[in-house]
Amino acid sequence: MDPHLLLFLLLSTSSLSGIESAATFKLTNLCRQTIWPGLLSGANTAQLPTTGFALRPGKSRAISIPSGWSGRIWGRTLCGTADGKFSCLTADCGSGKVECGGSGAKPPATLVEFTLNGADGLDFYDVSLVDGYNLPMLVFPQKVTRGGCGATGCLIDLNGACPKELKVVARDKGRVGGVACRSACEAFGDPRFCCADAYSTPETCSPSVYSLFFKYACPRSYSYAYDDKTSTYTCANTDYTIVFCPRPYTSQEVLGRRKDGASLPLVNKTSMYWPSRHPNGAFSSVR
Ligand SMILES: *[C@@H]1O[C@H](CO)[C@@H](O)[C@H](O)[C@H]1NC(C)=O
Repeated sequence: MDPHLLLFLLLSTSSLSGIESAATFKLTNLCRQTIWPGLLSGANTAQLPTTGFALRPGKSRAISIPSGWSGRIWGRTLCGTADGKFSCLTADCGSGKVECGGSGAKPPATLVEFTLNGADGLDFYDVSLVDGYNLPMLVFPQKVTRGGCGATGCLIDLNGACPKELKVVARDKGRVGGVACRSACEAFGDPRFCCADAYSTPETCSPSVYSLFFKYACPRSYSYAYDDKTSTYTCANTDYTIVFCPRPYTSQEVLGRRKDGASLPLVNKTSMYWPSRHPNGAFSSVR
């Protein structure tokens, strides 16, 4: 058989049977310090070629993602090895190794959540602060196709501004400061904050002063369990970029011009100038 014809047949059968070409996620670290991305595949979804690695400042790594993948990606900070065991001060996955190997992030952690090729063939994605916050993160599709394709994320450094009762404080290189910000659910265990028990429906679970702290600073991110309407984004047939410690102003300028139909701004300008005093060294939000 003509090899071109064979190739044609292979390509057409794979597209007919719905085996679409995998997406690529490009992870970029714009933090001042090394971060260690962690990747967790959801139940019944394919494993990724890596579940965790070090990403030095200014570096990027592309990861090919299988069609239909769902899972989470986060950034671990302030990591090191002691007695042969690797661990991180924030968002640790408890594996004792750089690879998370199927374990998730210990809260608080900013989470990027994906479900690829879902309903209507759309990819669903969001940035969630429901399990707290440890790093500014930004997600955006490479192409604007079908489904809105909005950029989302939490671009503000909240570790310094975090309310005292939620703040996780640590010492790094002799400096003491906030390294993460807990969710009210995790900090107080109150079903009202966790949307549990008597508060387990969208009607009975309302935003709290704490979830509003996150929502005001990061209008497009998930701030509590039923924050779906303004926090879930969709796109199709595209690759994605995920940035740790994005520059809020640059990102807003570049991505804010996209016609993505999102009702909320990517960055709340009134909260852009909160000082960064935390030791993990995210760039502070200055112009
Ligand atoms: C921006 O933040 C202020 C206070 O921090 C808040 O009142 C306002 O609603 C926020 N805007 C958005 C779009 O979230």
